[in-house]
Amino acid sequence: MRFKDRTIFVTGGAGFIGSAVVRHLLRDTHARVVNLDKLTYAANLDSLPGAEGNPNYAFEQQCICEAPTLRALFEKYQPDAVINLAAESHVDRSIDGPTDFIQTNIVGTFTILQEALRHWRGMSGEQRNRFRFLHVSTDEVFGSLGSDGLFTETTAYAPNSPYSASKASSDHLVRSWRETYELPTLVTNCSNNYGPYHFPEKLIPHTIIRGLAGKPLPVYGDGKNVRDWLYVEDHAQALTLALEHGRIGETYNVGSRNERTNLQVVESICDLLDEIEPRGESRLSLISFVADRPGHDRRYAIDPSKLERELGWRAKESFNSGLVKTVRWYFENPAWWQAILDRGYEDTRIGLGQSRVK
Ligand code: NAD
Ligand code: TYD
Repeated sequence: MRFKDRTIFVTGGAGFIGSAVVRHLLRDTHARVVNLDKLTYAANLDSLPGAEGNPNYAFEQQCICEAPTLRALFEKYQPDAVINLAAESHVDRSIDGPTDFIQTNIVGTFTILQEALRHWRGMSGEQRNRFRFLHVSTDEVFGSLGSDGLFTETTAYAPNSPYSASKASSDHLVRSWRETYELPTLVTNCSNNYGPYHFPEKLIPHTIIRGLAGKPLPVYGDGKNVRDWLYVEDHAQALTLALEHGRIGETYNVGSRNERTNLQVVESICDLLDEIEPRGESRLSLISFVADRPGHDRRYAIDPSKLERELGWRAKESFNSGLVKTVRWYFENPAWWQAILDRGYEDTRIGLGQSRVK
């Protein structure tokens, strides 16, 4: 009876990971879920099939930077927990336009921390004891690794992009709200996610959708940058486990030991697409090396052993099994991503730092 009679605020629940968390909570637990999402370009309520109409689900279009309306929602729903996923999340966009990243990721996190604190201070007894604020962050706050070594929970922060700097700032705010005000917070730092319902600007969906259309597949720089890939549903399960059993004030790294170079990822997608829908020439011929991203971190790799040891978490998907599921999902669900293209998402190269900086 996980989360029976508990109300959980999920911010950013219409985004890629947030929607996986909402689907998981509604499918696998008894939680009442309130999805607070501003509905930016990255949001998609189509990622929550069946949620509307579920008696355990409510949606509120809400910006995490707006204190008065946030306060009213805390009063209305009296949540037992907050999972804070709302964020601007795309590094390339942060290079061209950092303003929204500073606003949502830093000011928004500050604002919801303040409202959560006000709410928590007004609680009493058992409800106050069990309240948790789980802040969802990224391994990108640790900066770039050399060819060996892993990020642990004690690795020093060294963010290199406006995105990762804004996430690092938010992590520090969460920590300090715990230390100073004793708000019961936890932080998770996760590696790159992939899976169904991923907005087409990110490497894996971008490559799948372009590969299906027979378009060139851009690989930044020499293609040897390494990312450590985690299937999104494994992340969602790590988050609810951390919320349920994580120790207050702790941080947990989330990853599944799946390091790949970007070129390996793109090549694997080409092979899978060629199997599912063969075309004359292999899609490997579509790979095209393009100008590198400024400040491009070379390698990320997570040591998840604390999460595994303390909370018993295990990723269910290997990179191969998760990628097969993902490629197949995009192949079988073109309506989901075609609607995004039809809404005017412009699939052009961004993030070179040369366009106007907003
Ligand atoms: P996403 O861009 O797909 O979704 C973000 C969601 O937040 C969207 O639905 C958007 O509408 C909402 N949002 C943005 N600004 C908001 C605001 N001011 N108020 C309310 N809602 C707002 O992002 P994602 O990939 O699902 O990432 C979710 C979280 O996980 C982020 O905090 C991100 O930093 C973190 N994270 C992502 C990854 C990854 O690989 N995608 C890895 C580790 C951590
Ligand atoms: P991305 O999906 O943007 O995630 P992040 O920057 O948060 O890791 O990019 C993943 C990697 O893929 C990153 O090293 C940049 C690279 N990349 C490409 O080579 N080509 C592309 O078209 C995109 C979008 C990313």
